[in-house]
Amino acid sequence: MKVLRTVDQMKALSLEWRSRDYIIGLVPTMGFFHQGHLALMDKARSMADRVVVSLFVNPTQFGPNEDLDRYPRNFEKDKYLATEHDVDCIFFPDAEEMYHPGFQTWVEVTDISQGLCGAFRPGHFRGVATVVLKLFNIVQPDFSVFGLKDYQQVQVIKRMVEDLNIPVKIVTHPIIREPDGLAMSSRNAYLSKDERKSALCLYNAIKIAENMVKNGCKSRAEIKKAVNEHILSYPYTKIDYIFVGNPETLEEQTVFDKKILLALAVHVGKTRLIDNAILES
Ligand code: PAF
Repeated sequence: MKVLRTVDQMKALSLEWRSRDYIIGLVPTMGFFHQGHLALMDKARSMADRVVVSLFVNPTQFGPNEDLDRYPRNFEKDKYLATEHDVDCIFFPDAEEMYHPGFQTWVEVTDISQGLCGAFRPGHFRGVATVVLKLFNIVQPDFSVFGLKDYQQVQVIKRMVEDLNIPVKIVTHPIIREPDGLAMSSRNAYLSKDERKSALCLYNAIKIAENMVKNGCKSRAEIKKAVNEHILSYPYTKIDYIFVGNPETLEEQTVFDKKILLALAVHVGKTRLIDNAILES
């Protein structure tokens, strides 16, 4: 497995692979791999001749008071895991390589970036869309795999690809969960033992909402109330949002369609966790 640190090296390798008509799959990541990342790599492996994993903790998607400095990192372990999962290349640039002095071009996906996490993390999706487009331009993949835990991120990237005619297919992968239901996330590493117990509130609230909808509930207000009460019954929790609405436009809606998105962002202690599910009536 190759580890490439510069844009020129990555572009040259990609060009060589393309000249051989290889299908290239990209898995963009910020590292500190868990089973969720590994599932994305396996998915890419099953579809591609060559798999690239990008590993870049992208500073432009973190707000000034967020966890950029303490974001967990372990390159040697990531390298080992990527090798085990038959990845062909890790693209591992540093911030200077990705953002040269004088950098001033941004990708802004407007409406769909405004609500949910966008409302609490101003500039976050601008940073995500910009770095993902840069990665697409550098790696030139045929497809790229994203996990559905970051549901809004996937919608933003799909919108960008559609709007800017980017020739990359977006492949999604279901959320991978711990045995007790907690969605896997690199940020779970921040949780203390007691906070880890409280972190289950997101998954358990989703289960409650799923059951309500299965039993015929069609009231967004009732679902939100039950989810809110459940989450706040755990210690250390503070809710950013409970969203119940359209899974594609991410708009709150009055009509209760057959498929409706429940998305949650909750602080457990100092750790901000997200989770979501499509509720089907
Ligand atoms: O989901 C992530 O890990 C990041 O937001 C991504 C897509 C790698 C962009 O930095």
